[in-house]
Amino acid sequence: MDSIRVFAPATVANVSCGFDIFGLAVDNPGDEVIVRKRKDDKIVITQITGDEGKLTLDPLRNAVSVPIFKYLHQLNRNHGFDIELHKQMPLGSGLGSSSASSVAGVFAVNELLGKPMPVRDLLPFAMEGERVACGSAHADNVAPALLGGFVVVRSYSPLDVFKIKTPDDLYVTIVHPDIEVNTKDARHILRNEVSMKKTISQMGNVAGMITGLITSDYELIGRSMVDYIIEPIRSILIPQFFEVKMAAMDNGALGCSISGAGPSVFAFSKGLETAQKVGAVMKKQFEKEGIVANLFVSGINEVGPKMLEQGG
Ligand code: HSE
Repeated sequence: MDSIRVFAPATVANVSCGFDIFGLAVDNPGDEVIVRKRKDDKIVITQITGDEGKLTLDPLRNAVSVPIFKYLHQLNRNHGFDIELHKQMPLGSGLGSSSASSVAGVFAVNELLGKPMPVRDLLPFAMEGERVACGSAHADNVAPALLGGFVVVRSYSPLDVFKIKTPDDLYVTIVHPDIEVNTKDARHILRNEVSMKKTISQMGNVAGMITGLITSDYELIGRSMVDYIIEPIRSILIPQFFEVKMAAMDNGALGCSISGAGPSVFAFSKGLETAQKVGAVMKKQFEKEGIVANLFVSGINEVGPKMLEQGG
């Protein structure tokens, strides 16, 4: 195989109460890459589309290529590749845009080289893309983009990541308002200390969320979707956040919170129909205030990255 086209999905990180430890993959949107083997050992980003010219073509500074350098270094291989990156989701959206690129790139190269590593082992390399994009190598977007499903990051050092089962009828609604929130800034405004009281409440919700997911207890999932630590601070960066959340809850959502670092807002619902209705009212609420918003509704994507085409 000399060339490959790969899709990697968008992700919802934090999932309300699980800052930096919970993440899930959705079916759409996502990024596509086309990677072709070169005859020399250069890594070249030949084209980026869908980024409004915002991303660098410098392979040492782009989230799609940095993981590939680290991966090749680890394997002690000198292969060169041309990379085309087709962004199919907005940057700075809270949808794990850089993670989708990182995962797509390193997954594509691993396939082109005949899978010298199991997909799971690509995680530390993909995390390096996150470090380039936002200064911190957190795994809650990258891990679900790579492994699919709902992922828990139990520990960063050593890295310990596992997937948990989710109920079949759980749907994710994401509404992306057309404003940009820089992840670095959204991390910077957080406090370093959290009170004992808030920590206890948050731990109860983390335990409730996991139990609700693995036992398909939708009510418990909903009750656990309260974030005492991050949402109260970050929501100030998202105009209409509380009105949008209220619209979602009034229309049957199990819970609603910020997707990743925002500004996207996500909701969980039981059933596709409810998830679509919830999405329509959330979008309408943003648009009532003149904020253009995109809507995505999806089940939980258990697959992660996908090979779409291969050539050569
Ligand atoms: N857990 C990260 C954060 C995800 O909320 O800052 C954003 O990439």
